[in-house]
Amino acid sequence: MRHQYHPLGFEGSRIAQGFWRCLEWQMSPAQRLGFIEACLALGVTTFDHADIYGKYQCEALFGEALALKPALRDKMEIVTKCGVRMPAEHRPDIALHRYDYRSKHIIDSVDASLAALQCDYIDTLLLHRPSPLMDADEVAQTLDYLFTLGKVKHFGVSNFTASQFDLLQSRLDAPLVVNQLELSPLALQHFLDGTLDHAQQHAVTPMAWSPFAGGALFTGTDEKTVRVQAVLKTIAQAHGVSQDQVAIAWLLRHPSGICPVLGSGNIERLERAADATRLLLSDDDWFRIWIASQGQPVP
Ligand SMILES: NC(=O)c1ccc[n+]([C@@H]2O[C@H](COP(=O)([O-])OP(=O)(O)OC[C@H]3O[C@@H](n4cnc5c(N)ncnc54)[C@H](OP(=O)(O)O)[C@@H]3O)[C@@H](O)[C@H]2O)c1
Repeated sequence: MRHQYHPLGFEGSRIAQGFWRCLEWQMSPAQRLGFIEACLALGVTTFDHADIYGKYQCEALFGEALALKPALRDKMEIVTKCGVRMPAEHRPDIALHRYDYRSKHIIDSVDASLAALQCDYIDTLLLHRPSPLMDADEVAQTLDYLFTLGKVKHFGVSNFTASQFDLLQSRLDAPLVVNQLELSPLALQHFLDGTLDHAQQHAVTPMAWSPFAGGALFTGTDEKTVRVQAVLKTIAQAHGVSQDQVAIAWLLRHPSGICPVLGSGNIERLERAADATRLLLSDDDWFRIWIASQGQPVP
């Protein structure tokens, strides 16, 4: 078993596995357990969830598998999220898709996540998306309370700008350890808007959601994607690796310590990604991908 822990303050593996799409995988509980064990064997010990994934069902699918071997809980880190309300068949209480960072919602959401995941603590709780109505004082008090109860060990955010991050951090004793962001060779906005600079400055781990742009990095046919695909292919051939490994190595190469969160239920894809932690891209290759995505040379 290889354990590749993250170099920064975040307690998690160098790459993580996401469960957003787990309803699509159509695995039996035993198959899901096998998948979780295979991830752990690869050193991918961090599992990314949200209360709303799979219309509020994915956490329970994970919990059902974990309940078959509860001893695995100590060998993993569970990240989950709260703050989005989404109408769903068995949530008649929710009328509108919106955000909610009221104390009651955060506490109820954590309790529901713990029940679904069948465990008694969350390693890292993320606020899923910033809300214009977020009252930083109320949120900070609520997070402190959850920490005091031992229900959550660490906190972070997702899709937050640097200033939204700073606002919440200014009210909170505990350090925010993660900002989970859309980052991939096709999604460069947070490399440019100061979010990754801010993460690096404060030793916050950026987790990269949709590191393969949800698969579009390999299947997309638009001009930009085709340009990036051509460069990934050339670099992959030169290193004798696959294009998805080059894409992962490109994220890992960034000095902010990005933790890619993969979304496939295909363990072979994860195996290749785990192997990519050993692939060090040259600065030339890194910029070839950057330039292909930007569609123009650097100024
Ligand atoms: N914080 C947020 O706001 C947020 C938003 C979105 C996602 N997330 C998190 O990020 C995780 C990952 O997101 P994601 O699922 O979009 O990640 P992703 O790894 O970019 O995309 C996974 C999808 O790409 C496909 N794929 C992967 N490699 C491929 C290849 N070589 N050729 C063709 N298709 C390929 C997979 O298909 P197969 O299943 O067939 O392999 C799967 O459908 C989620 O599970 C969730 O935990 C967070």
